[in-house]
Amino acid sequence: MNKLVVLISLVLLTVGNYSSYASPKDFIVKSPDGHIQIVVTNNGNILKYSVNKNGKAVVLPSKMGFVLQGNENLNSFDVKKTLRTSHDETWEQPWGECRYVRNNYNEMKILLQARNSKNKLNIIFRAFNDGIGFRYEFPKQDGIDSLVIMKENTEFKMPQVHKAWWITASNPYYECLAKLSRICDLDTVRTPLTMETADGKYLSIHEANLTDYPKMNLTISDSTTLRSTLVPWSTGVAAYIKVPFATPWRTIIIGDKPGDLVESRIMLNLNEPCMIKDTSWLKPCKYIGIWWELHLGEGTWYYGPKHGATTANTKKYIDFAAANGISGVLVEGWNKGWEGNWTKNGNTLDFTQPYPDFDIKAITDYAKEKGVELIGHHETAAATKNYEQQLDRAFAYYKKYGVNIVKTGYVNPLMDFKEAHDGQYGVRHYRKIIETAAKYKIAIDNHEPVMPTGIERTWPNLMTQEGVRGQEYNAWSPDGGNTPEHTTVIPFTRGLAGPMDFTFGTFNFTNKAYPGTRVNTTLCKQLALYVIIYSPLQMASDMPKNYSGIKAFDFIKDVPTDWETTKVIDAKIGDYSIFARKDRKSTDWYVGAITDENSRELNIPLSFLESDTKYMAQIYADGDDAEWKTNPTSFKYEERIVTANDILHLKLATSGGCAIRIIKLQKS
Ligand code: NOJ
Repeated sequence: MNKLVVLISLVLLTVGNYSSYASPKDFIVKSPDGHIQIVVTNNGNILKYSVNKNGKAVVLPSKMGFVLQGNENLNSFDVKKTLRTSHDETWEQPWGECRYVRNNYNEMKILLQARNSKNKLNIIFRAFNDGIGFRYEFPKQDGIDSLVIMKENTEFKMPQVHKAWWITASNPYYECLAKLSRICDLDTVRTPLTMETADGKYLSIHEANLTDYPKMNLTISDSTTLRSTLVPWSTGVAAYIKVPFATPWRTIIIGDKPGDLVESRIMLNLNEPCMIKDTSWLKPCKYIGIWWELHLGEGTWYYGPKHGATTANTKKYIDFAAANGISGVLVEGWNKGWEGNWTKNGNTLDFTQPYPDFDIKAITDYAKEKGVELIGHHETAAATKNYEQQLDRAFAYYKKYGVNIVKTGYVNPLMDFKEAHDGQYGVRHYRKIIETAAKYKIAIDNHEPVMPTGIERTWPNLMTQEGVRGQEYNAWSPDGGNTPEHTTVIPFTRGLAGPMDFTFGTFNFTNKAYPGTRVNTTLCKQLALYVIIYSPLQMASDMPKNYSGIKAFDFIKDVPTDWETTKVIDAKIGDYSIFARKDRKSTDWYVGAITDENSRELNIPLSFLESDTKYMAQIYADGDDAEWKTNPTSFKYEERIVTANDILHLKLATSGGCAIRIIKLQKS
């Protein structure tokens, strides 16, 4: 796992030299550049933290602490000691939106003694140049080896009534269209919660390293205070912890513009370094699959006359993948157990028993000959006990046939009909799957996951996840499909939590199965999404027959899924966005621009290119007559020589887009 562990630079400024803090009143830690400050007060022994940037409040004094079983309130403390450290390191990702990540912060750890009980608690604050993180730590302490947490009382008190893009916590899969409202009107909502502040800045509250603990939702109280609400067990308990224990980090990214949120790496930095020694088997890639035809009702997951996962059908997909340089073919509905209402009885799902018309040996031998891999599928229907019982056998079975990536699924609002996906029960289950898969050198694409929190730094075989309202809604959602604005929002909300397996790539916009529902974009917007929405595994989700003979498919063939660097050129959340990303394996750049339901003219300065160098831009743009409702497939292709001094002027159709590959030629 050389790449990840080889540190490009490691400068630990004062690590290890914790020293006591002198002031008896406020405890302050500043970001390395001095602009962001975390201030902790303990007036009347009620501990509060606040955050400011350049002297302006970002978070007003906000409460911290817990309620433990027996109604014990852990919120009144004596400060015993503060410890400080600084850190500056650059590490390399095995795959990602950028190759190198700088982790630079100042840390303050406050050691507390509860006033009304024996409990000791530490709170660790880290101030970065682009935001903050803090976590609670229950240190080893005499007489306490476990605790039952009923509530976490962390608050985020905003100085004004900001606006937020939010999704309700009542959807177990995070598959919602975001609403934009003033925070005083919020429901209980999911994180990442992205806000535009009253003075036009951007904040996003989320968490990092969710391990053996429930997910944090946020509930509004008194119009500006967001309060953490942990997803409970069915018993009402939030978390059972073994002491010593550290909670996930609570994070706030603080930006001047939407792109600052996307370019922040706080979440990854607050996760533990990679646990997988050799990551060379983790290969970012593109895939096609027996999938869209199932969602459009052209085939079935279950065995029968319209069964999709047949040997012959899979071979057709393998042929298409091989002919077009696509390395993976996903096949859903290959294994026994999909009959009847499988979501009501996931225990019938068997992960080592293919249907009789799916000859896995013949298929994988054929794929191997053609240089293509089968991508596996474990739909569990959230029957996690059934899945866990089969887990080792199921991974070993796939591995025997050369399967290196498995898509997992949890279609059922509760796990084992009882526990939330993102309560402690679900969090434990998902981690067990990732760690077991790593043993088998299998990468995971997790659908219906717990909201990602950067665990992929530690377990990079967790390559991508759903947890977003993706392309499938454009097949069957009774509301007509995803709105044109949806993909202009999610890079700045759910996308901040990590890779999204959205599965775009539609070229044929008719939907006979569910009239009135369709992909609500132009074809070029589908292309641009490969640059805008990040995932190291990207699906070309349409059926092969819909790609053949269309020049625009070249962009899907060319676009990489692993990046040296990422820049958000311009964006207005909910209206439009322009991303530029540089390929990790070549000198090519890729640009994607998308708009909502409004057509738009956008300028893209190419100043991110090397100076004094000529490039060839291959531009896939909406046709002059393109319009998402009536003429989505109209597009034009143009090649142009460009340099870093150029500004590209783009015209995007309604719900349109533009996708550009920029190839380095020679020094001019
Ligand atoms: C929901 C997943 O998101 C989708 O991709 C999959 O096809 C179905 N479940 C069936 O497993």
